[in-house]
Amino acid sequence: MTTFQGFLPMLVLLGLVLTSVLVHAQDDQSGFISIDCGIVEGSTYTDNITNINYVSDADFIDSGEIQNILSIYNSFSIDTQLTTLRSFPQNTRNCYTLKPTQGKGNRYLIRARFMYGNYDFKGQLPEFDVYLGPDYWDTIRFNSSSKPTNREIIHVLSSDYIHVCLVNIGRGTPFVSAIELRLLAGDMYKETDFGSLYLFARVNFGSAFGTVRYEADNTEPEIIAPTYTLTINKTKNSTLPPIINALELYTLKQLPQNQTYDHDAAALWSIKSAYKTNNKNWQGDPCTPQEFVWEGIGCSYNDTEFPRIVSLNLSAYGLNGGIDPGIANLTMIHTLDLSNNNLTGTVPNFLSGLNLLMVLNLKGNNFVGPIPAELQAKASKGSLTLSYDGESTSDAASSCDRNTCKNKKDNKIIVPVIAAVASLFVILIALTAVWMIKKQKEHGRGLDIRKQQYTYSEVQSITDNFSVVLGRGGFGTVYHGIIGDTQVAVKMLSGSSLQGDKEFQAEAYLLLGIHHKNLISLVGYCNDESHKGIIYEFMANGNLESHLFDTASSFLNWEERLQIVCDAAHGLEYLHHGCKPPIVHRDIKGTNILLNESFQAKLADFGLSKAFPTEGGTHISTAVAGTPGYLEPEYYTSNRLTEKSDVYSFGIVLLVVITGQPAITKYDNDNIHISRLVNLKLAEGDINNIVDPRLLGDFDINSAWKAVELAMACVAHTPSRRPTMNEVVLELNDCLVAERARPETKPKKLTGLMSLNLESAYDPSPI
Ligand SMILES: *[C@@H]1O[C@H](CO)[C@@H](O)[C@H](O)[C@H]1NC(C)=O
Ligand SMILES: *[C@@H]1O[C@H](CO)[C@@H](O)[C@H](O)[C@H]1NC(C)=O
Ligand SMILES: *[C@@H]1O[C@H](CO)[C@@H](O)[C@H](O)[C@H]1NC(C)=O
Ligand SMILES: *[C@@H]1O[C@H](CO)[C@@H](O)[C@H](O)[C@H]1NC(C)=O
Ligand SMILES: *[C@@H]1O[C@H](CO)[C@@H](O)[C@H](O)[C@H]1NC(C)=O
Ligand SMILES: *[C@@H]1O[C@H](CO)[C@@H](O)[C@H](O)[C@H]1NC(C)=O
Ligand SMILES: *[C@@H]1O[C@H](CO)[C@@H](O)[C@H](O)[C@H]1NC(C)=O
Ligand SMILES: *[C@@H]1O[C@H](CO)[C@@H](O)[C@H](O)[C@H]1NC(C)=O
Ligand SMILES: *[C@@H]1O[C@H](CO)[C@@H](O)[C@H](O)[C@H]1NC(C)=O
Repeated sequence: MTTFQGFLPMLVLLGLVLTSVLVHAQDDQSGFISIDCGIVEGSTYTDNITNINYVSDADFIDSGEIQNILSIYNSFSIDTQLTTLRSFPQNTRNCYTLKPTQGKGNRYLIRARFMYGNYDFKGQLPEFDVYLGPDYWDTIRFNSSSKPTNREIIHVLSSDYIHVCLVNIGRGTPFVSAIELRLLAGDMYKETDFGSLYLFARVNFGSAFGTVRYEADNTEPEIIAPTYTLTINKTKNSTLPPIINALELYTLKQLPQNQTYDHDAAALWSIKSAYKTNNKNWQGDPCTPQEFVWEGIGCSYNDTEFPRIVSLNLSAYGLNGGIDPGIANLTMIHTLDLSNNNLTGTVPNFLSGLNLLMVLNLKGNNFVGPIPAELQAKASKGSLTLSYDGESTSDAASSCDRNTCKNKKDNKIIVPVIAAVASLFVILIALTAVWMIKKQKEHGRGLDIRKQQYTYSEVQSITDNFSVVLGRGGFGTVYHGIIGDTQVAVKMLSGSSLQGDKEFQAEAYLLLGIHHKNLISLVGYCNDESHKGIIYEFMANGNLESHLFDTASSFLNWEERLQIVCDAAHGLEYLHHGCKPPIVHRDIKGTNILLNESFQAKLADFGLSKAFPTEGGTHISTAVAGTPGYLEPEYYTSNRLTEKSDVYSFGIVLLVVITGQPAITKYDNDNIHISRLVNLKLAEGDINNIVDPRLLGDFDINSAWKAVELAMACVAHTPSRRPTMNEVVLELNDCLVAERARPETKPKKLTGLMSLNLESAYDPSPI
């Protein structure tokens, strides 16, 4: 009869098994990884007793120090593997990474061995934790300098990588003597289906060495636990006494956390080895546990799957050579920052295969050759913010710089003309446009869209003799037109706003030089004696406000709203930071954000804007500017407009988009400003009271909070407290990422007109 003491929450395996199955030499060691920690790098040997081949640990870890136990503990009875070790005086956590060739889905026995042997001459037994990947395995304690201790676990791998990590818990330096991995074929330990099997005791009955492993393993003095008694009785008609050869006892251990998705992890290991980054933090699994995520890496965790890598920031990591192909395998990545390294070669086309990539920064490297066309196309389509030397978001940043710089001297005279261009740019909805295309098939056909200056008679032909009015503003009327196969909007300036030829021409040139995917492009202009007009690209889906307040327009869901303000923010960021000198828009509002046929947003009417003298700091404006509700309060006293004035107006746009309320609403016969309204509701702390009720709560809470916080920061009273448009763009990107990571499926992109469900709590009156 044998009695065991110990804490056994679940006793899962006991029986007659031969321990030699596991440990003894086999001809085929293909399922083995046997590491003797601390032997000379690159060396190998065959153990005299077991005939198992051991290798040095240098290929499995890149930190720690090699040590030997003191010779007085190095008796002949000790296993060779225990005489050397690797200790870890640096870093809280150090990890061995093993990648068995048979891979995941297989059952392995993983064993770690520890023998102190007073290697550090301190004579103090250390205590430290061992982790298997993200999961706590056990705390290692020693009874004496001469007694080794082992930990064994039988575990079915859910990942191709095994990380054995030693964690310093402030009670001495962690170390390890040997790590062994054994593939367990067959179904002998199939209880691992319910969890991993943690070895509690292994007894070799009748051995000449007695119960060696039991003594060595059953070493938890401080545990007070129930006693389990195992009895073997002979059966009634048995003629011989019962026999037993060996006994193994396991407890069930749950290792619940999944490691990083294998392809992502493999890509990072490839990147790590390609760039030889000696970042000590790049150890173990990249994303788990969460307190040890690799530096520069962003992970997305969700409850049912493996963590995925969603961002990689290797800015200023001192990288040399080309862009590592491993990056192509990070398929969930949305942000990749490789700026300020010493990377060389061409920019590889595989980057354009990363479908979710939204931010790519390649600045400050030594690349040669062109940026791949597919990447450029993504950038100009607006799905990618691409930065590389000399350019930000590839399409023609330099063109803006060139033209605005060249025309800087002329700016003073031009102001009134620009002001004249400003007016409401109201455009009818898509269906009307289709009708118009049919009606106007003939006119404008002979004209070339690449031409920039048109005569009055050509404009008459383009607009079918001004037959379709898209909108009227203070400075002129906007007509629909067609040039070749392209629809355009033509704004004819009315008599009172006419300017001198020279100024008008200069201004038209200035505006023609600005190209950005999120800014309305000027197609051309007309500068005849008494007829002046500006020709813009046509925006089929009208302006943003019409989709927020107009029941006849299609309804925008949360993701679409975020995408639109993100687009608009890009456009404004470009005017502020992509042009030299910076351009202040001066009239940001919902009706100046226009939507094309695929709902891509572009800023209109930056004609009111004016290239901005950087040396002066701020600009003293003489022209009438801005729109009540959108204009920063300081303007009324200071009459100064700066980039931060645009940020304020943009903040109001955000609030309008979030709440679905206009900038100013009537409430109890009083005008109440949207920023005050939101401030009052913020005090209640319920995001659902703030966000447009027509969204019916169908949005990511974090994304909405972030957007509200950003909007409130933009409308801060003190201009210096407001973020820059660079910061606004980054924050809005985060909002979009959060919303897109939301698990629920939601109706995708708008396809055209939709009727609004009148039962869906639509309430056009304020509050
Ligand atoms: C193991 O073999 C090596 C030579 O290969 C020998 O030097 C060493 O003493 C042997 N150890 C034991 C314990 O037999
Ligand atoms: C550990 O040491 C204590 C006291 O030195 C001893 O009573 C106990 O039996 C030892 N346990 C093992 C498993 O060696
Ligand atoms: C086995 O033997 C022990 C000791 O003789 C006895 O107490 C126990 O009842 C027996 N169990 C069975 C199932 O016969
Ligand atoms: C032992 O006896 C039982 C009945 O008492 C019988 O069923 C069984 O076959 C016997 N076993 C052997 C090995 O004879
Ligand atoms: C780990 O991944 C498996 C799929 O292989 C999944 O069934 C399990 O729920 C995941 N566990 C966690 C904690 O995400
Ligand atoms: C990458 O890291 C650098 C330095 O920490 C930081 O300045 C930069 O903004 C980061 N890039 C992105 C895209 O977050
Ligand atoms: C990338 O993925 C492919 C296909 O799965 C694989 O063959 C390749 O080895 C991977 N490369 C890296 C560096 O992980
Ligand atoms: C960058 O690479 C070049 C060529 O390989 C080398 O001469 C230069 O020293 C490197 N610069 C840095 C900062 O590593
Ligand atoms: C987890 O992520 C996967 C892949 O992105 C996605 O298909 C799944 O819906 C997500 N699950 C949850 C609960 O977020």
